[in-house]
Amino acid sequence: MAELADAQGLGPCVRKDVEVRFLSLAVAKARMRIRKKGMNHSKFVTVVCIVVILLCSSCSSVFRGTKTEEVTGILGAFEQEIVILEDKLTEGKVHKIEGIRFVSGRLGGKKVALAWTGIGTVNAAMTTTLMIEHFQPSRVIFTGVAGGINPQLSPGDIVVAEKIAYHDMGLLTSEGLLYQGVKSRLDNIENPVFFPADEQLLKLAEQAAGRVKLGILRTSKGERSPKVVKGVIVTGDTFIASKEKCEELRNKLKADAVEMEGAAVAQLCYQRQIPFVVIRCISDKADEAAKEDLATFYVMAAENSSSLVAEMVGLLGSQQSQTENVKVKNQDLK
Ligand code: ADE
Repeated sequence: MAELADAQGLGPCVRKDVEVRFLSLAVAKARMRIRKKGMNHSKFVTVVCIVVILLCSSCSSVFRGTKTEEVTGILGAFEQEIVILEDKLTEGKVHKIEGIRFVSGRLGGKKVALAWTGIGTVNAAMTTTLMIEHFQPSRVIFTGVAGGINPQLSPGDIVVAEKIAYHDMGLLTSEGLLYQGVKSRLDNIENPVFFPADEQLLKLAEQAAGRVKLGILRTSKGERSPKVVKGVIVTGDTFIASKEKCEELRNKLKADAVEMEGAAVAQLCYQRQIPFVVIRCISDKADEAAKEDLATFYVMAAENSSSLVAEMVGLLGSQQSQTENVKVKNQDLK
């Protein structure tokens, strides 16, 4: 299990405050000594600037002094989705940042940072932003469960999102919703309706799908192995339990699955050019039985998704050599 990184749960933000106060004190003392020794003002300013730059660069990341090793950020909506991966960590350390629990460590030997976001796009955006700011991940993977929109999918099957969109963002007219992106606050450029997943991460997911061992599914038509498919995931701030809404999402957005966080994570990563992919295992069919099905299939679905993600992380770095040789047994839904 992970240990608390800092005494009394102090996170990097709190440490920064302490360092800033310490810095002001040091500057005041240095000024006094300089006055005594007679160092000129411009030399003094140069020395202070160098010290500030060194201090700032040392507190910009939780992984101080290990900048060269890439970090994979892994997010899930619910605590259980992340605990499954946390239990597999070595060198686990807990970081409390603005009260949110992040865990750093190694998964299959690779450096990762984990966190659960809570439900919905605002929670997801907040946690993703904190993760990006404090852990500077080279890639972000979202793991979790989703409602199946594509009738070919059953609980236990996994959708790897090739692209992901909000299903509730745009212009609502009497003819219905016209999907539109909003402008990024970073560069004022309009976001696309669909955020495309990173190509390398999609390949990695394919590779992992050919290797991962997922539990056998028991369906009304007998037993079968779960499918891992590439597809379209849509996101909104409502839990969908309506066949009618499913049909709308299928017809208008060609959605294969629906959930409540992925597009927010994708938007933040897209705007900051951080490679991302959203992986979701079907827990229900987003129809009138969705709430009961979620309760029945949640644990199995969360485990399937996190197993695929763990397999992906384990393969990081070995991608080029293996991609050509792996025959992936997945089908493209489109
Ligand atoms: N996550 C899992 N099932 C879902 C559903 N039916 N709607 C939205 N998010 C979900």
